[in-house]
Amino acid sequence: MLIIKDLYKFYGKFSALSGLNMHVNKGDLYGFVGPNGAGKTTTMRICVGLLAADGGEIFIDGEEVLHNTDRMKEKIGYVPDFFGAYDNMTAIEYLQYYAATYGFQGEDTLKMCEGLLDLVKLSDKRDTDVNGLSRGMKQRLCMARGLVHNPDLLFLDEPASGLDPRARYELKLILRNLTDMGKTIVISSHILAELAEMCNSVGIVDRGRMVLSGDIEELLHSARFMNPLMISVEGADQQRAVMVIRQIPAVKQVRVQGRQIVVQLDGGQEIEQYILRTLINNNIMVSSFRRDEGSLEELFMKMTGKSLTAEEEPADPKNRKAAKGRKVG
Ligand SMILES: Nc1ncnc2c1ncn2[C@@H]1O[C@H](COP(=O)(O)OP(=O)(O)OP(=O)(O)O)[C@@H](O)[C@H]1O
Ligand SMILES: [Mg+2]
Repeated sequence: MLIIKDLYKFYGKFSALSGLNMHVNKGDLYGFVGPNGAGKTTTMRICVGLLAADGGEIFIDGEEVLHNTDRMKEKIGYVPDFFGAYDNMTAIEYLQYYAATYGFQGEDTLKMCEGLLDLVKLSDKRDTDVNGLSRGMKQRLCMARGLVHNPDLLFLDEPASGLDPRARYELKLILRNLTDMGKTIVISSHILAELAEMCNSVGIVDRGRMVLSGDIEELLHSARFMNPLMISVEGADQQRAVMVIRQIPAVKQVRVQGRQIVVQLDGGQEIEQYILRTLINNNIMVSSFRRDEGSLEELFMKMTGKSLTAEEEPADPKNRKAAKGRKVG
């Protein structure tokens, strides 16, 4: 559905995007994750034609659109991370106003806008002044605004930031409704855990590059196989077990940690089964045999050598301000 190839963006000499690649499938709820300043907003703004790129290609449904901003705007709805102030406008007027910018007017458009308010659970705020809405409500109104032209793809920039748990839960339900309706959604956050539980796909960006991406289940599966195998055997068998395991070629390291034998190895399920079989064939009484579940955070750390949850001290004033106003976790 959306393919980004080798996207570049410079702000002066500073390289905000350095050959970013991204692949979003139709129907995905795609989590776009990265620390402050990684390039998430820049990527989104380029994709919706608000910012010019310095190189690369963007394909939507196979069509190259990078230099066709009209096409990008038509295909993608965008919900920015900050909500501007709009005086003297009710929720319904706000949506009608945005619909009019796409040339939609009249009775059908009013009905469509009411339908969108219903979708984002704001029907009871139809005639409330926009500035009188709570942050979570404004966020949802912004989502409705991103949908006025019925795009197939919706980009949401940090929609969960600053929301309380209940508002996050409501957001999640709305996102699920939207994917059920056939929309493809890209949602950004600098908190991996926030997205891992609601998205099916994830892309982790760092310093303007995609460092890890794919189906969340598959990534977790591969992360699991990076962890050591933890084996415990009946007391008297431990030394013998260690010797037997050491002989297996895929085994990189074996150490004893209390009652556990910790085995670092190259390989997945087949090797695991082979080790278990070998122990049993050697008449060793295995009492437990497991690997710890992997986490995306671990995988990110292995690939970049740093943590995703620790907030970095941003290098420039723009980011310092943004980072201050935001909470992590
Ligand atoms: N208008 C601008 N002028 C100069 N530098 C900019 C501008 N906009 C963004 N940058 C820089 O480009 C980099 C990427 O910024 P961007 O806003 O895309 O990051 P982000 O991943 O959205 O971060 P955050 O999580 O803080 O929203 C940052 O280092 C930022 O300081
Ligand atoms: Mg941003």
